[in-house]
Amino acid sequence: MKVLIAGATGGIGSQALRQSLAHPHITKVVALTRRNLSLEHPKLENILIKDFGKWPDHVLNQHADAAGMIWCIGSYSGDEKLDFEYPVAFMEAMVKVLDAKNRDAPFRYVHLSGKFGKSDTAALAMAEKHADVWHTCVVKPGGVAHHPWQDLGVWLMGDNWAVRGQELGTFMAYLVVDGQRESSIILNDRIAQKGRALLREA
Ligand SMILES: NC(=O)c1ccc[n+]([C@@H]2O[C@H](COP(=O)([O-])OP(=O)(O)OC[C@H]3O[C@@H](n4cnc5c(N)ncnc54)[C@H](OP(=O)(O)O)[C@@H]3O)[C@@H](O)[C@H]2O)c1
Repeated sequence: MKVLIAGATGGIGSQALRQSLAHPHITKVVALTRRNLSLEHPKLENILIKDFGKWPDHVLNQHADAAGMIWCIGSYSGDEKLDFEYPVAFMEAMVKVLDAKNRDAPFRYVHLSGKFGKSDTAALAMAEKHADVWHTCVVKPGGVAHHPWQDLGVWLMGDNWAVRGQELGTFMAYLVVDGQRESSIILNDRIAQKGRALLREA
């Protein structure tokens, strides 16, 4: 199955990319970025996007067969464009393309919640309004640790507050493939516990 990812150059997005490439059911990952990825992989296609606020039909039409999107673009400052306008522009353009197609299953939109969570409501509303073609999972991690030296801190903070980047990336790759039974808003404890379990099984 084909999966789209936005924000794959970021701290969290790069983990989601790595884990999506490793997922046995994902055969192709299309990374939409504003600069070239330094990674090469047989499953990976990298498409450069000039403006994440504008999504021409010809770009999205090529990927209407994707199982879903992992959206990891976001800021730490509550940037209106990054945290709200860009994801909403993608959702609105993609749902129009999907509405015109026959799909076996809804497009699964895995949305990494940003600083104030402003776009979470829009992502959930999209799934309510277009339930036949659109499914949203909002992922709300606590603190995300990317280095082994942070392990003690993650352990001390516990599953309600902290998660390792690898667990979060693994969880998002699982969600885009198989997230239909998960809640539409997913908090840190579920992300950490399921992410760990998936990594143990791999
Ligand atoms: N880390 C945590 O503890 C944590 C916890 C909960 C939620 N979050 C949220 O998760 C989101 C991502 O976090 P992160 O740590 O992965 O951030 P990050 O490392 O700063 O990554 C941000 C991503 O957004 C892209 N981006 C930035 N400006 C852009 C623009 N104008 N156009 C297109 N793409 C743009 C970046 O691309 P470039 O590489 O091209 O700049 C990068 O891929 C944030 O909203 C953050 O608030 C983080």
